[in-house]
Amino acid sequence: MEMFKSRKWNQRSARLAQCCVLIVCSLAFGARPAAAQTDLTGYWVLHVPNGDGTVRDTYFELKQDGASITGTSLGRGPNGTPINGTFQDGKLQFKTVPPPPPANGRPPSAPRQLTYEGAYQDGKLSLQTRNFRGETLQGTAERTTREATLPPARLPLPELRDLPDNGLVRTPPMGWNSWNKFAGKVDDAAVRSMADAMVSSGMSKLGYVYINIDDTWEDGRDAAGNILTNRKFPDMKALADYVHSKGLKIGIYSSPGPKTCAGYNGSFGHEVQDAQTYAAWGIDYLKFDLCSARNIYSSTQDDQQRLYQKMGEALQNTKRPIVYSLCQYGVADVWKWGTNTGGNLWRTTGDIRDEWESMDRIGFSQIDIAPYVRPGHWNDPDMLEIGNGGMNADEYRTHMSLWSLLSAPLIAGNDLRSMTDETKSILMNTDVIAIDQDAAAKPVQLLTQEGKMEILNRPLQDGSMAVAIFNRGDEAAQGSVSWNSLKMGKNLKVRDLWKHEAIATTGDSYTASVPAHGVVLLRVSKANKN
Ligand code: GLA
Repeated sequence: MEMFKSRKWNQRSARLAQCCVLIVCSLAFGARPAAAQTDLTGYWVLHVPNGDGTVRDTYFELKQDGASITGTSLGRGPNGTPINGTFQDGKLQFKTVPPPPPANGRPPSAPRQLTYEGAYQDGKLSLQTRNFRGETLQGTAERTTREATLPPARLPLPELRDLPDNGLVRTPPMGWNSWNKFAGKVDDAAVRSMADAMVSSGMSKLGYVYINIDDTWEDGRDAAGNILTNRKFPDMKALADYVHSKGLKIGIYSSPGPKTCAGYNGSFGHEVQDAQTYAAWGIDYLKFDLCSARNIYSSTQDDQQRLYQKMGEALQNTKRPIVYSLCQYGVADVWKWGTNTGGNLWRTTGDIRDEWESMDRIGFSQIDIAPYVRPGHWNDPDMLEIGNGGMNADEYRTHMSLWSLLSAPLIAGNDLRSMTDETKSILMNTDVIAIDQDAAAKPVQLLTQEGKMEILNRPLQDGSMAVAIFNRGDEAAQGSVSWNSLKMGKNLKVRDLWKHEAIATTGDSYTASVPAHGVVLLRVSKANKN
């Protein structure tokens, strides 16, 4: 006390004393200086329950520098997706920063931007994120090791050989798939009611026969390694029997990787066993989606072809006719070799979204690879979005017309139980379906292009020609096709397949007003001489 009263007590020692008091107090009351905030640097695994008894694991490497968080989300692609955020006062928030899409048009299956936020407590992070449908997901992350984040080592792949044609889908497959509308919300009841609606709507009579369950039906494996279904699908065999009882066929989904794109169990190392399980259930169609196999095998044709051949062989060895649908987003020009793996169709692009920009970009990027389609072997620019609400009727008519001209699979992705008359009129236009299903499967070509107006044509088996005037512009505009350019001679008979009416062929050409993002679709035939 004497010392504090001393006149020699200068300001310097006062500051020192204040400092000591602070340290003593903070030690006494348990507070930590800011610099000692928990360091989140390291590897983390986030467990998010899917709501069906399964849990999705996502791995992160976090790097903390003060309040700043960087690092990588290790879920997709060999190098993962960079992340960026902050950690302050125990609160963490970060976003994944996907790389910008390439300028060259054909979109990859790009990771989306995801936001995570939550808090650190007792060595764990409780984190909240949203899936791309805006649904909130809640999970807990705990520390893990670098080794746990690494993909497994590659398994041996078969020697390349050309598999025989399985003789299925001589015209492009038609049906329904759960992903675009339901994603992880698909279950047994939804699939049964979709099969019912396929029949009651009249769609099945037009050729829509495949009812395809996409990702999120899977669970773990039993002691013998057999894949199990999660609680949304209590009995897959019974479901297949039900779909078959309606005169329809049933499809399923898996991945050559250990995890599917939604983080469920894939077929990695279980290809033969899974093919046998599908056959025993009565499955008629498999969509095989690259997903996590990307982190194990390379993007070379050699790896990709052998990887898909492995499941192709497993399917053929079951002796059950199963349509084989490759889904690896066009890697290594799959349209050049997909057939050799036993493939019946192959996705050529990343995922479609229910938006004009996505559909337009994907659809019109397909014309140059149209010559690769053959009966039984189809380019697949992804499933239809018709009726899902993100585009207007003109845009959906463009979607249906373009997919049909491309001989693309017509796999509806909407809720078949609640279709408007307009949606039905688009999906069930028999004249347009007839173009898609034309047995000659000749390639569509670009006849002329003037600004945003593109005229596509495709010769059909009976000697007639499908001709579409597409307006890719944002304003209604006039489009013209000259009859001469079709090289079909004179005396033509023309029908407008959306207006369901005949078109007069009096002049040298036909000019129509085409709505923004819309189409005029014609079938041009030789008129009878008499
Ligand atoms: C990928 C595919 C989609 C869908 C999802 C399911 O993104 O391209 O069509 O199957 O996986 O997770």
